[in-house]
Amino acid sequence: MCGIVGYIGKNKNAQQILLDGLHRLEYRGYDSAGLCVISGKKCKTFRAVGKVSALEAKIGEKDLAAKIGIAHTRWATHGKPSVVNAHPHNCGKIHLVHNGIIENYAQLKEALIAKGHIFSSETDSEVVAHLIDEANGSSRSFEESVQDALAQIRGAYALVVMHEDEPEKLIAVRNSSPLVIGVGRDEFIVASDASAIITHTDRVLYLDDGEMIVLTADDHRITNFQGKLRNKKEHVLDWNESEAQKEGYAHFMLKEIFEQPHAVEDAMRGRVIIKEGLARLGGLSAVEKKIRSINRIVIVSCGTSYHAGLVGEYMLEEYAGIPTEVEYASEFRYRKPLIDKRTAVIAISQSGETADTRAAIREAKNKGALTLGIINAVGSTIARETDAGVYNHAGPEISVASTKAFTSQLTILTLFTVYMGRQRDMSMTMGRRILTELRALPHKIEEIFTQEKHIKKIAKKYSSVQSMFYLGRKYNYPIALEGAIKIKEISYIHAEGYASGEMKHGPIALIDKNFPSIVIAPCDSVYEKTLSAIAEIRARSGKVVVITTSDATEAIKIADDVIIVPKTLEMLMPLLTVVPLQILAYYAGVTRGYDVDKPRNLAKSVTVE
Ligand code: AGP
Ligand code: GLU
Repeated sequence: MCGIVGYIGKNKNAQQILLDGLHRLEYRGYDSAGLCVISGKKCKTFRAVGKVSALEAKIGEKDLAAKIGIAHTRWATHGKPSVVNAHPHNCGKIHLVHNGIIENYAQLKEALIAKGHIFSSETDSEVVAHLIDEANGSSRSFEESVQDALAQIRGAYALVVMHEDEPEKLIAVRNSSPLVIGVGRDEFIVASDASAIITHTDRVLYLDDGEMIVLTADDHRITNFQGKLRNKKEHVLDWNESEAQKEGYAHFMLKEIFEQPHAVEDAMRGRVIIKEGLARLGGLSAVEKKIRSINRIVIVSCGTSYHAGLVGEYMLEEYAGIPTEVEYASEFRYRKPLIDKRTAVIAISQSGETADTRAAIREAKNKGALTLGIINAVGSTIARETDAGVYNHAGPEISVASTKAFTSQLTILTLFTVYMGRQRDMSMTMGRRILTELRALPHKIEEIFTQEKHIKKIAKKYSSVQSMFYLGRKYNYPIALEGAIKIKEISYIHAEGYASGEMKHGPIALIDKNFPSIVIAPCDSVYEKTLSAIAEIRARSGKVVVITTSDATEAIKIADDVIIVPKTLEMLMPLLTVVPLQILAYYAGVTRGYDVDKPRNLAKSVTVE
């Protein structure tokens, strides 16, 4: 988590570029913010608890007049959010920002203290500054000192380091935490992700784990941690600037909810061949032969991406006839999963940087499985580390609560189901049917938007409850989980997602008049069963909001509040039923007065364990 930015250039003011970069990365963490620039051989450091605006207030009108600097927005792992724990950290003339966790920091710190080092923070990160300083003090060059420190630390880190006496040089390092290098004319901007870079340049270099880059304003040199030269190709970013702006919406989350018709459209663009009932997935062509021979799929992912995986499991088993399991990446990586050469392990990740998902993919690779990715962030680590994959093309998702990435993941999973199914038993007619319905979805999502005011009212009505249930069955069970995580994340209302059939096995004991349930009950193959669950809740005085289709007369009659979604194939219903739940969570968060784009204790991309 956390966002880091570094800048070195010949002509521009580093201060503004760093602060702009921090604003764009703020969604990654907002416990504290800090900046350090070198101006005329002197370092100037500012740090503040809270958001980047607090840091700006501290800097005030001062022009720091610098061409080099580093900055950080923190998601605390070691040490509480405070000014002393805020980055940049320093030791002597060494200043650095860090994203990740230094796992062996405690032993290193102890040894450094024994040598006389004095620490000012509780962070793991500060240890690295001291290690570099220690090496530098024994007449190693700046680069060599960084390498010496790297040889001693363990864990996940992206670091950007400056030396007060060498203001013409910036060193950046990557190991298991993301880092992208933007290449401008006589300038470089280093950042945790491309959103801090796109306003300056679309030319980027992706560092791999175990790589270090030494930057001057007009040159760069990439090596491994031992100093061996590495050659890297530049890439061109295909995100545009306006996609990362709010464009008049109060929050990124609302903007991203409303972008879903486009996100779904963009996910299927060029990939649907209706006439033949086929899905064309260019990103998989290199491994097509292998895919034909697999006999099992394991999906690994976290949070919202995990919920997309659950829908994918139902789709793939029902329509492609291929055994599929979905597993939390954080579990998969530590147990003993049974996978072999005929298993495809698919990572689903918006950011492509989630540490757990990445580790799961590595584990799968070690076991010889084919690894595939359904990833939104182009050029991200998981996208590069999987054997092949399909990009979402949903554009940057800034709000911590994932919305458009989810519907876009479901779109790709539908295409993947048709792709796999048509290689196996699925008829052309079935392929056509699914794809035709999929193509109609963007318009149907727009129809749901016409009920925004109505959903807002319902959100207000229930926004003061303490707890609630989200219930759904079959394809809508994962949507119940997704609705619950969404409301928890941004409105801090306690919510539990359950398979509606499970209610009677325990959870129903909680129901009373103050404990409402949101029930997803479209007229589908399990409609009548879901109706029984609603009746059971009503019989215990529980309030019920149903998300349903217009033909579900009984559900509409017995519910306290109703939100209608258009009809579609049962397997595609999640792409519609999730939308009102996102809007509901959004307005519940807004009504309760929270900053929905930056919920407490969270960060957009979870790059630590
Ligand atoms: C979604 O609203 C969450 N913030 C979170 O669960 C997220 O989906 C999860 O951390 C996985 O992220 P990824 O898709 O970038 O891997
Ligand atoms: N471990 C460091 C800290 O707690 C960096 C945290 C991060 O990467 O968000 O300050």
